[in-house]
Parts: sequence; C-alpha cells; structure tokens
Amino acid sequence: MQDFTSWRSQFAPEVVGESEPILDALETVRRVAGTDCSILITGETGTGKELFARAVHRASTRRGRKFIPINCAAIPEQLLESELFGHIKGAFTGAVNARPGRFMSAHEGTIFLDEIGDLPLSAQAKLLRVLEERVVSPVGSDSDLPVDVRVIAATHRNLEEMVAQGTFRADLYFRLAVVPVELPALRERPEDIIRIAELCIVRAAEKLGRRITGLDDAARNTLLAYHWPGNVRELAHMIERAVLLTRGDQILDADLQVPGRKTKFARATPALGTPVSELKVVPSPSLTVKEAPAVPLGDTLDLRSALENLERELIDRALRKAGGNRTEAAALLGLNRTTLVEKLRKYAA
Ligand SMILES: Nc1ncnc2c1ncn2[C@@H]1O[C@H](COP(=O)(O)OP(=O)(O)OP(=O)(O)O)[C@@H](O)[C@H]1O
Ligand SMILES: [Mg+2]
Repeated sequence: MQDFTSWRSQFAPEVVGESEPILDALETVRRVAGTDCSILITGETGTGKELFARAVHRASTRRGRKFIPINCAAIPEQLLESELFGHIKGAFTGAVNARPGRFMSAHEGTIFLDEIGDLPLSAQAKLLRVLEERVVSPVGSDSDLPVDVRVIAATHRNLEEMVAQGTFRADLYFRLAVVPVELPALRERPEDIIRIAELCIVRAAEKLGRRITGLDDAARNTLLAYHWPGNVRELAHMIERAVLLTRGDQILDADLQVPGRKTKFARATPALGTPVSELKVVPSPSLTVKEAPAVPLGDTLDLRSALENLERELIDRALRKAGGNRTEAAALLGLNRTTLVEKLRKYAA
C-alpha cells in the first residue's frame, strides 16, 4: 500500500490539519477507500464532511465515475423517495414521465447522502435494501432494478441517540457505520486553527492581489480562544473578510469580526422614534444585531412580529452573504441547517 504522505498528497491534498483526530480520520479513509464498504462521516457543520467524502471517492476505483452529493435535509419529504430511487410514469400526480432517481444516476459511482439523520423512516427502509441487496425499487414500481453504488453518509446528528429514540433504524445504522469517520470540531484541535488560518490568508491574499505576511499575536490569541461553531468554514470566511479589511501587511485583532464582539463596523442604533421611512438598510459586513441597526421593523409594536421581521431580515442577509448556500447561511446565523430550513419553510408558508 502507498505510504501515507504520498497517498495524502495525491488524494486528499486540500485537507489541512496535523492534529491526531484529523490524521486518524485520513488514515481510516486511506485504509477503506479502495473497498466498496459504506462509510459514515460524523461531525459538526463545517468540519469537512463533504471534503472527506470527495477524498474517499477520489481515492477509490470509482474515481472516473460520478460522485453525486444529496442533501437529505434540503429535499421535501414527499419528494425524497422519488428523488433518490426514481419513479415510474403515473406513480403519483405530476409523475408524467418515469424518472431514474439519483441512485441510478450514480450507477458505478459514489452517492454522498448528507444529513442522513433527516431521512424519513420509509426512505431508510429503501436505502437498507439498496445496501443489502443492491437493488432500487422506483416509487410506484413492483420490480427492482440492480444498481451498483457506493454509499457515503454524513450527519451532524447523534444517530445512536436517534436509534434509541426510534427515529433512525438500528439495522441501517449498523450497516452504514461499518466504517465510522469522526471529524473533530475545530475547537478540539487548536493546533490546526492557525495552520488553516495561515493557508486561508495565503489563498485570500493571492485572490485579492494583496501581500499579507500573517497574523499578529493578538489576532492569533483571538482565533485560539474562539469556539468556532461553524468550524473550518467559519474560520475561512473570517480570514477572507480580514484580508479584505486589513490595511497593513498583517492581520490584526481588530480585522477579525468575531461574532458577538463589537467591531470597528458597529454603527449607532437609530434613535427610538426615528420614522421607519428614514431607516436605511445599511450593508453590514457582519451579522450581529449590533451591526445591523436598520432592520425593517415596520410600524408594529407587537414584539413577536417585530422579532419575526428581525429574524427574516437576518436570515435574508445570511443567505445573500452565503450566495444562497443554506449550510453556510446557517453557520453564519449560528443555527443548525435543519433549524434554518424549518424557519425558511415557516416564512415561505
Ligand atoms: N481540514 C480541512 N482543511 C481545509 N479546508 C477544510 C477542512 N475542513 C473543511 N474545510 C473547508 O471548510 C468548508 C466546509 O467543509 P465541508 O462542506 O466539507 O463541511 P461539512 O462538514 O460538509 O459541513 P456541513 O455539515 O455544514 O455540510 C469547505 O470550504 C472546506 O473546503
Ligand atoms: Mg456538507
């Protein structure tokens, strides 16, 4: 077998980190990538679950075939089964034509089932059949179709707890978790924080055509002290913003927009009684309420609806900032993606 270092630079060059749990995770991936067994990747948002899943695919013999990522939390429950397993013509209202489904599209490749904990029980049963018998049965069909797909699943949830509560099938859990890969939260591997930050500085500076040499001591300490709820994704964004903002050739503490801390961008809150028509939406570089004074409150004094307006506005900003990516928007808001999706559903209704 290829040695670890050359394997890593060939198949997982973008995974940064020298901490023990990251090296362990990479070693597990190296050992099993070449087999067809299912892998369950767990970790908080932004810890690199998709990055690792792609590395598995790249390091496998399926690399020339498709890698199909599916976010189970983002697809409405009633559409999920047909999306995954396909449907026959006339299977339900609107099923004018037969559709193959993502498993069939991933034939001979890899399917990445993100947020597997959000998979409804009925779809869990069908997924188990794919894993055990290597067949899919499209919605509305009596017959099975053979399919050859490697499954990599991921979740930020505690599936064992879900099994205990009866919301996740135990048999499916054991089947998926043959090879568990646990990605540590960034706060659990402080030695990687500066390493990743420095790499992000080099990348961002290159992109923006700036010359930036690194972080000053205070900035370093701030990065080490923060708890990183959005993990690597949040760190990368914070550094990118800092590279944009900094005036000198070093990132200073003041250039870091740490959520919850007043920054040089904080603006005065408009005086109570300012007519709503005079409030402007000020583009804010961050999302803390302090820095976003001009939320459209409307004329209401009803606290609940004012808070809803505020929530909508912050969600809207986060989504715009994340270019529509719900995972990133949720991280910016400090929410679980599922919570954000629920809120979006509520506001869309
Ligand atoms: N170890 C790492 N080294 C370098 N970049 C990383 C690492 N882990 C994550 N990233 C980067 O952080 C971002 C988030 O990673 P990824 O999308 O894989 O996270 P995730 O665990 O799937 O998050 P979510 O649960 O929110 O979907 C990506 O831009 C990815 O490239
Ligand atoms: Mg992901």
